[in-house]
Parts: sequence; C-alpha cells; structure tokens
Amino acid sequence: MASVVKNPMFSAASAVTALASLFSLFGLSSTDLALPTTSPYGGGRWSLLRPSIGISAMHMQVLRDGTVVIFDRTDFGPSNLSLPHGRCRHDPADVALKVDCTAHSLLYNVESNSVRPLNVQTDTWCSSGAVRPDGTLMQTGGYNDGERKVRTFAPCPRRRGNSCDWTELEENLVERRWYASNHILPDGRVIIVGGRNVFTYEFVPKTSAMEKSFYLKFLKETRDFREENNLYPFLHLLPDGNLFIFANKRSILLDYKKNWVIKEYRAIPGFDKRNYPSTGSSVLLPMRLGGGPEMPAAEVMICGGSPPGAFTKSDKRRVFVEASRSCGRLRVSDPDPEWTMEQMPMPRVMSDMLLLPNGHVLMINGATNGTAGWEDGRNAVHNPILYLPDVPGPARRFEVLTPARVPRMYHSAAVVVPDGRVLVGGSNPHSKYNFTAYPYPTDLSLEAFYPPYLNPQFTILRPSILSLEAVDQTVSYSQRFSVNFVVTMFRPRRGLSVALLAPPFTTHSFAMNQRHLWLGVLSVVRLSSFAYRITVAAPPSATVAPPGYYMLFVVHAEVPSRGIWVRVR
Ligand SMILES: *[C@@H]1O[C@H](CO)[C@@H](O)[C@H](O)[C@H]1NC(C)=O
Ligand SMILES: *[C@@H]1O[C@H](CO)[C@@H](O)[C@H](O)[C@H]1NC(C)=O
Ligand SMILES: *[C@@H]1O[C@H](CO)[C@@H](O)[C@H](O)[C@H]1NC(C)=O
Repeated sequence: MASVVKNPMFSAASAVTALASLFSLFGLSSTDLALPTTSPYGGGRWSLLRPSIGISAMHMQVLRDGTVVIFDRTDFGPSNLSLPHGRCRHDPADVALKVDCTAHSLLYNVESNSVRPLNVQTDTWCSSGAVRPDGTLMQTGGYNDGERKVRTFAPCPRRRGNSCDWTELEENLVERRWYASNHILPDGRVIIVGGRNVFTYEFVPKTSAMEKSFYLKFLKETRDFREENNLYPFLHLLPDGNLFIFANKRSILLDYKKNWVIKEYRAIPGFDKRNYPSTGSSVLLPMRLGGGPEMPAAEVMICGGSPPGAFTKSDKRRVFVEASRSCGRLRVSDPDPEWTMEQMPMPRVMSDMLLLPNGHVLMINGATNGTAGWEDGRNAVHNPILYLPDVPGPARRFEVLTPARVPRMYHSAAVVVPDGRVLVGGSNPHSKYNFTAYPYPTDLSLEAFYPPYLNPQFTILRPSILSLEAVDQTVSYSQRFSVNFVVTMFRPRRGLSVALLAPPFTTHSFAMNQRHLWLGVLSVVRLSSFAYRITVAAPPSATVAPPGYYMLFVVHAEVPSRGIWVRVR
C-alpha cells in the first residue's frame, strides 16, 4: 500500500550501522561536494575496456539500444579492424587506399564490451550527426567523396541479429559539409550549420526538391583570416524554438524558419577564440522544468579554446602557446544577458564537455598547449574536471578529478552511457594511423571513466529504477508519469528528481544535441520499506525537448540511478 512520505528524513540506515561513521559525511549540503580530489568522495576512477578497438574513436553516438556507433575516416589507410567475410571497400576516389578491407566504423556493445565492424562507404572525416526521433542516427557530410553524403544507422532489431549496417541515402546535401554542426529540431528535421568555407545552413530531410541552403553572414564574419576559429560552431536549441549559434567569440539567436537573426549577444569577454582549430567546448546547462507549461530559463556555458594566433604559431612555427583557462556563462533566455567569466583550474583546448546525469558538467580529454589540427597540440591535460553549476561560490564549482593514463589529443571523443560511466576513446593528431609517433601515437584504446558518483560509498544512496509507468516506454508532451525505484538510504532533502539526458553526437570536443532536463516533480510516495514512486511531468513541448529517445535517470542526493530509455513525443 502506498503512503505519502511525511518525513523526508526517513531512514533505512539501521541495516548499515557499520557504515554510520562514513555516512556522517552525508550531513553535507550539495555545495560540500565541491571538494578537492583529496576529499573522501574521490576523483572518480579509470578502467581500460579494450586495449584496441581497431579504429580511433573520432566520432561517437550512443543509440537507444545502448550500443555506441564509433567511426573515424575512410582515408586513413588500413585500420586494425578487418571487415568481416573478406569484404573490401572499392573506392577509386579514396586518397589513401582504393581497395580497403578494413573497417573505419564499428558498433560497440556496452554490456558485452565487444565490437562489431561496420562498413561505411564514403569518407566521414570531420563530419557531424544527430539522432532522428525514431532513434536512427543520421550522419552528414565529411570529406572528398563523403562531403555531401547523408548516411543513416538504425539500431538493430533483435531478430536481425548483427546484420545492421550503414545506409547511404539517395538524398545529398546541397553543400559540402566538412566541420559543420548539426541539431535536431522540434519538427524532427535536422539543421546542419556551416562547414569549411561554407557560410550557410540547410535542413535534412528537405520539405521539397526546391529547398536549398540559407546564407548566414555571421558564419563568414566569424571566420578569422588563415585561422578560421569558427568551425564546428556550437549550436543549442533554446526552449523558445530558436537556435543559439556561437562561433569564434560571437553568438546569435537565429530564427531558422525565417532565416532571421533575432539578436546578437555580447561577444564573450577576453581575447580567446573558442571554435576549431582553437577548439573549446560548450554545453546548454541543465534546464529545470516546473512541471507546467512555463518555459525554463536557458544558460549556455563555453570553456577553453586558444588565444588569437595560436593556430598559426603551432602549425607554422611549432610554438605551442598555452590554451585558454576561462569559461563563460550566458543566460541566453534573458533579454540582455551579460557573460559571467570563471577560471578553470588549468588551461584546456580540445576538451569535451559532457552533461552528467546528476547535472554536473564533466570536462575531459584535450591539451594544455597549442590547438587542434595535425601535430598542433602539446602537453596533454590528463585530469578531467567536474563543474558544479549550482554551487553559489564560483571558487568551489570546480573539482579536479583522477588523471587519465592515455593522452587524448586531437580526434578523441567521449560519451555518457546509460550506466553512468563515460566512454573515452580516440586520439590521432596525424594524417595517417601512426603507432610509433612521438609524443602522441595514434590511440585505438577504449576506456571508461567512472565519475565520483559511481564510487562504492554512494551505493547506498543510488536509486535503482524498478519500472516506468508509461505505455511502450513512451511519454507525450506534458504527460504525467511515474517512475518506481528502490533506494537503501532515502535522503530526499539532499535532492530527488528525474532527469532526461539526450545522448549526443560527439566529435571535435563538441557534443551536438546534448540536453539535460530536470523534470518537474509532482509527488513522491513511499510504496514499501525501500521502494518509492516519483511522479513527474514530461517536458511541455518539442522546443523544450525535441522528439526522440532520452536516457531517464532518478537522481537522489546527486547520485544517479542507472538510466533507462524513454521516448518523448
Ligand atoms: C595495429 O596494427 C599494426 C600492424 O599490425 C601494429 O603494428 C600495431 O601495433 C597495431 N596497433 C594497435 C594499437 O594495436
Ligand atoms: C606551454 O605553454 C607554456 C606557457 O606559454 C610554456 O611555458 C610551455 O613551454 C608550453 N609547453 C609546450 C610543451 O610547448
Ligand atoms: C610517424 O611519426 C613519426 C614522428 O613521430 C615519423 O617519423 C614517422 O615517419 C611517422 N610514420 C608514418 C608512417 O607516417
């Protein structure tokens, strides 16, 4: 029988008196989690999943069946992963190898820690992607014969076993898209913005054969002479349905339906450039929904990059200047927002910014000196950092985490998987695979980073989802639905909510389509000694949460459950 929890401090800790001294630590508020790595919370840990997956993880996307699509480029020469059954790719346009019997893409199975080679036909180098509302990855562009291609990879239905592979669509892009960024839109289409020497955006699929691309002067204006510094622009779909675009140091709000720049925001303060090859990163910070139709506030964060001239210095003169140390936050939903600047504990270029299920931001991979580009980075930054966006004092928002062993330089990537770990792979600052290069050989390994919330001492606080009360694991906009979960020690005053996390397409330090939503909590009911039901409201609209598959987590005392997949439409 269900009873409403009257005393939120209800405790099931009697069974664990042996651990009582440890849990005296837990009388802390959330701010106390911003401790240095010497804290009892630890700085997370690393685990080597596979010494080699056979290719270098340049692009990564988690799919709704928990598999991860990984690919690099077809013109790297032979990889260390053979295509099955003696198959080969015959490509007269390939600049490295016209007949290639090795794979440049694979499907990683998180549960079994195994890989299956996939066969990609044309060059996906420095491309972009987004997952459509039906859960199919749609990847666009690349280089050479791949620059206008649209490819899909759909999760494999169980009955088809292991036969699913890439499909190249008939429909081509209107323009070449190399170093472009993509975003899923509320109507289920995908917008593709920019690319090298391309100052337009376009949509896939097109509404008619007549639909072309749309010129955007901002993309041209933000390109630096000889350095660019505006590629892989940072895109964030705001709750009002307009698209925030950041390139170099500037940002705009675009009404892409009318091809109208609604406003330009203030330039980010300081000299540093933030986009490729001065590769910083950016996230739309977690948005808090009220449970009703009201629109949440939206805040963008941008971290790292390089000072002006850094690319010319590293590329031409082999001088590797120190990367940017700063981050900027901008409440982009405010009418006339100002940037708030903060300093990271160390300089970072080419770091990935990932939203963790508990709403913290992880910065991982990258370098301390130089820029993106062949041979242009130095001094790997081994320590990930955690950023706690809601902690009031800026000085306590950053936490330095356990260092990685492997340098993850140019062409590395990272993604959050449903069990809360972070998959980390890639690193190849060379134009070919080069396993003897010094100091940064091509890396084919795949590692997992366990964020601090996975430390064993938090097991007692970790919720475990029993069921989702939603037909077909699907919720419609504004629908109320419940999640049943168990937890050993219940401490709702330290935070209890449900989060949706959209799995991003990550490459070149930018996680496209990444989105974290705190759902509005309507009630919490105790079902039995350790079981609870939390009722929440689904996001109010497709502009707040574009249709598609999200990972859903119950987050309790900043410790997330294992995620389950929910479809929002
Ligand atoms: C890839 O294969 C080559 C050639 O067999 C080998 O020398 C190299 O060590 C392999 N690299 C990795 C990272 O396994
Ligand atoms: C990194 O930058 C610092 C500051 O400019 C410099 O002292 C150091 O030598 C650079 N390191 C490398 C490896 O170039
Ligand atoms: C690998 O990199 C080293 C420099 O670190 C270079 O001497 C060598 O020629 C490269 N090998 C290939 C095959 O490009």
